[in-house]
Amino acid sequence: MATPPKIALIGLGSIGISFAALHIQYTDAQLAAFDPRPDLQAHLESILPLYLGENSKVTVSELLSTGRLRIASSVEDACEGATIVQEQGPENLEFKQKTLISIEASAHPDAHLWSSTSGIPVSAQAANMKNKTRLLVVHPFNPPHILPLIEISPGPETAPERVQFAKSFFEKLGSGHRPVVVRKEVPGFVGNRLAFALLREAVSLVNEGVVDDVSDIDAVMEASLGPRWAIQGPFKSYAMGGGTGGLGAFLKNLSGSIQTIWDDQSRQPPNILDKDGKPAGWVDSLVKKTDVTYGLPTPAVIEDRDAKLRRVLEARKDTQ
Ligand SMILES: NC(=O)c1ccc[n+]([C@@H]2O[C@H](COP(=O)([O-])OP(=O)(O)OC[C@H]3O[C@@H](n4cnc5c(N)ncnc54)[C@H](O)[C@@H]3O)[C@@H](O)[C@H]2O)c1
Ligand SMILES: *[C@@H]1O[C@H](CO)[C@@H](O)[C@H](O)[C@H]1NC(C)=O
Ligand SMILES: *[C@@H]1O[C@H](CO)[C@@H](O)[C@H](O)[C@H]1NC(C)=O
Repeated sequence: MATPPKIALIGLGSIGISFAALHIQYTDAQLAAFDPRPDLQAHLESILPLYLGENSKVTVSELLSTGRLRIASSVEDACEGATIVQEQGPENLEFKQKTLISIEASAHPDAHLWSSTSGIPVSAQAANMKNKTRLLVVHPFNPPHILPLIEISPGPETAPERVQFAKSFFEKLGSGHRPVVVRKEVPGFVGNRLAFALLREAVSLVNEGVVDDVSDIDAVMEASLGPRWAIQGPFKSYAMGGGTGGLGAFLKNLSGSIQTIWDDQSRQPPNILDKDGKPAGWVDSLVKKTDVTYGLPTPAVIEDRDAKLRRVLEARKDTQ
């Protein structure tokens, strides 16, 4: 049997604790956790059980007393003996670069170095590293203990076997996670490019008064593309949109409509911040509308969403 991995988790916010829950549920890994927040243990004790779920057989105090989970006193301490170092601290370049210097200085030279960044490319993060072959982005979708997508985005100097290792790590978990390799360093990887293209259009439709309220946009998504795309992504589903003629028939038959819509969408997107770096006027008004419609999310609302996400994923389990 292969030796269980030793995983250093740097940063135990939303993403870090969620990854901790995933590793605890699906691996034999020993985890070392570092986060400078003074209440780290209490924080883990309050959040980790929610993520591990009601049926979890382990408690945080058992995890801590058996050494399966260790609270580390520094980045260096967490990296001691680690075979994988997974960083999900603050999203800023200075932090990532500085932390990678500590990681490189203290982790075993063979350790895999994974960044959870939502958008800072490996080439920028690794600028001051001596050896840039071990670092790659392993970008989750929140919360990664539930959502299966893992985007693996190497930098120009990342060794191919590091990409392969991360890919097979998630494929073999048995949790249903689906790693996808992103071959070029593009902003947003793939998931957020798709998401923010849609967000841009959603914002524009509300701002232009095409619908009465943000809830109309949500109704359109939830009643059509949401359920469909949970089962079939755009290519798989539009390959059926053309009947027996496949995607070719779909693009040919609808070419006029699709082109008219694309041309209309190609105008300049609005700025989110104005020249002084303050939110643009439309932002305020859109945020107000959304807050009035939905209120701010409470823990109960988040739990409800997670339970429903699990049921959707369960329903799509046997889908090819
Ligand atoms: N939240 C998301 O939807 C999401 C999704 C994918 C990726 N990410 C990425 O994951 C990372 C973390 O995001 P998050 O949402 O968990 O943020 P978060 O604010 O919930 O957590 C960040 C944690 O980092 C800790 N921290 C601060 N200084 C530190 C240091 N010097 N060393 C170690 N830890 C430190 C903070 O105490 C905090 O607990 C970011 O890079 C973010 O872009 C976030
Ligand atoms: C970088 O580290 C790897 C080990 O992961 C090693 O094989 C390689 O020789 C190192 N490269 C340099 C330039 O030191
Ligand atoms: C596409 O058009 C062809 C004829 O032009 C027609 O036979 C076919 O049914 C159409 N398919 C769809 C999906 O509209």
